Amino acid sequence: MPATSTTYAIPLHRPPFEDADAHAVVAALNDGLLTGDGAANQRLAQAAQRTLGCHRAYATPSGTHALELMMRALPLAPGDEVICPSFTFVSVANAIILAGGTPVFADIEAATLNLDPASVQQRLSPRTRAIVTGHYGGIAFGLETLESLASSRGIALLEDAAHALGGTYRGRALGTWGRAAAFSFHGTKNLVAGEGGLFVTTDAALAARAEIIREKGTDRSRFLRGDVDRYTWQAVGSSYLMSDVLAALVLAQWGRIDAITAARRERFDRYQQALAPLAAAGQVTRPIVPEGCEPAYHVYFVLADAKATRDRLAAWLRERGIEASSHFVPLHLSPYATNTLGTRPGLCPITESAADRLVRLPLYPALSPADQQTVIDAVSAFFGRSRT
Ligand SMILES: Cc1ncc(COP(=O)(O)O)c(C=O)c1O
Repeated sequence: MPATSTTYAIPLHRPPFEDADAHAVVAALNDGLLTGDGAANQRLAQAAQRTLGCHRAYATPSGTHALELMMRALPLAPGDEVICPSFTFVSVANAIILAGGTPVFADIEAATLNLDPASVQQRLSPRTRAIVTGHYGGIAFGLETLESLASSRGIALLEDAAHALGGTYRGRALGTWGRAAAFSFHGTKNLVAGEGGLFVTTDAALAARAEIIREKGTDRSRFLRGDVDRYTWQAVGSSYLMSDVLAALVLAQWGRIDAITAARRERFDRYQQALAPLAAAGQVTRPIVPEGCEPAYHVYFVLADAKATRDRLAAWLRERGIEASSHFVPLHLSPYATNTLGTRPGLCPITESAADRLVRLPLYPALSPADQQTVIDAVSAFFGRSRT
């Protein structure tokens, strides 16, 4: 049986739940039909719009659905190309294809593992309609350059902000640098619904299309606001609503975003400091936070010198009850992409190298100092160093 988080004494993730979250869920159960336009959804949307400073926010069943809603509302036409990282989650590429477009994979830059504007530049074509950047681990990179690349071409910059809730760049919330963004409340994320997501946009016209698509192609949102006296079929749509139970769960955590981010930051900084000697000796490469970025601290990772070292380090940690994991398998090397999009090894060399060498270490607010020291000691011991 594959090992799960519960197999490990020190898992990779743990949700930031408190008693107040359970109370909020019970209150929602007693408070209506639990549908996707209920009181908790309304309040979550308002809180998100206020905190992030976006025009509209809509909770969705997952980050994947938020990405799909984003691509469908853009909209895309057959033959339209969207540039995205290969070093990301498969839902980004699926969302582009489901909306009728074609993903074009660009490489990342080596320090933050985020989309490299120089690689994007090489992939631009007359058919490019949008650029989707991610914020790997909650760290932003290259946003001004990507924004000016997109605006000079009249195309959209979009953000896969699944890792980035609570992060900012130059004081502006991640998820509001582009025309639209998708956040995730997956069980592993900084705020947790189990499955859940949030679509946000800074663009009124895009919001108007999205609210119709997410309500089965109807103007039901307008009806609920009292703008029309009945709702009717306006366009092809689907259901991208989040149950009010889950919205209540997310809303309860939303008020603690700053505290959750601060707790993650403290543990991230502790790793950075404790692993500095290994970095100085060239045994690992640590994350780099660009100037102006205040991350969401979603992931802590190190890069080993080679895949074999990474695999041995991850196995070493797991044998000691510590969950450690690689991350994305480059999309351009996946069977689907090589078979249908004609991609091949060598297309994104930095992605290929980082994916082979990266190992994630446990990071969550409840990670105790003693448990984090156990992780640090185990990593240090692997490289032949004694306790830090
Ligand atoms: C970068 C990134 N984008 C999108 C998603 C999709 O989010 P979800 O799992 O909520 O569908 C994930 C995965 O969790 C992710 O890591």
